[in-house]
Amino acid sequence: MATTTLDDYLAQLDQLQQQALQRFRECRNAQELEQVRVEYLGAKRGVLRQVQQRLKELAPEEKPQAGKRFNELKKTLEAALEEAKQRVAASPQPEKPAKEKRRRGAEDLPPPFDPTAVPPQAQLRLGRLHPVTQTIRRMKEVMARLGFEVADGPEVEDPWHNFEALNIPEAHPARDPLDNFYLSTARLTEPQPPQEEGPQLLLRSQTSTVQIRVMEKRPAPVRVIALGRVYRPDTADATHFPMFHQMEGLYVDRGVTMAQLKTVLRLFASMFFGPEVQVRFRPSFFPFTEPSVEVDMTWKDGWIEMGGAGMVDPAVLQAVGYDPEQVTGFAFGLGVERVCMRQYGIDDIRLLYRNDVRFLQQF
Ligand code: PHE
Repeated sequence: MATTTLDDYLAQLDQLQQQALQRFRECRNAQELEQVRVEYLGAKRGVLRQVQQRLKELAPEEKPQAGKRFNELKKTLEAALEEAKQRVAASPQPEKPAKEKRRRGAEDLPPPFDPTAVPPQAQLRLGRLHPVTQTIRRMKEVMARLGFEVADGPEVEDPWHNFEALNIPEAHPARDPLDNFYLSTARLTEPQPPQEEGPQLLLRSQTSTVQIRVMEKRPAPVRVIALGRVYRPDTADATHFPMFHQMEGLYVDRGVTMAQLKTVLRLFASMFFGPEVQVRFRPSFFPFTEPSVEVDMTWKDGWIEMGGAGMVDPAVLQAVGYDPEQVTGFAFGLGVERVCMRQYGIDDIRLLYRNDVRFLQQF
């Protein structure tokens, strides 16, 4: 069955003829004329060529009449082209050449604006990853080679994971509203009766929350890292920012020792920064590790504090249902921005979050 009827086809040719004649008449110079010629009479993709193809769709008995009309149309358009050619050649070319002559004479005029021109100095500016993201990826790589898999947890936490299971009881100063971003301040000023009160959620202040989440989910041995954002209401200065990243590490198994903790952190430091970096451990205190240490690394002429670490407190193992008589573990938390700053020689953390391309594109 034919997809086109003869009437449709003839009507289309009429319409086309009108349009094309109009376009030829409107041409004011050879350039425009050439464009219109290609558009209608172009051998490959001209409109006429397309219309000719559609002859095939007609029923056999309709083809002679349609073909005849098509040939007429073609002749008409070719005649219109000839006529337009002569008209354009005869008419004086307005303005353009005159303008060009003037410009050639006056070297100091700026070239006319050409929105399609590609200036030679234009360079493709490729985007790149934020330095902190680059650091996170490398930290993961290095820790993967040390046998740690990546775990994850939410940034909005409940007090159990951010505090209680980590051996930070209700009255502990670390839970002070001034030191944490609690999500509902209304509850702080007007405490509800305890039975109506759901857990007071907060933005996690440390990635140690993920230790709890991992151990709650699966039995020992676990050997994981967690990398992510943490939040503390600190005033921003060269070394503090209210949002930053930590890399948490946790290894729990039979017979894990502090010597292994120190080895893993030393290996991380030398694999990440190079063999010349030194690591120092200073006695410290965290509610969820015992004993606890601060971890420093050499930078420039001194030391930079990279984070905290220690042996997982038996109270924490108990909170997640592990048996502290059977397993021991170590945990550490390193500041990702500190690592990033040492890696690239950046001396102010605020630079990382100012979103200034001139700064960021250096990395
Ligand atoms: N969570 C601690 C902090 O944010 C760091 C830490 C992690 C300390 C693991 C010991 C063990 O300061």
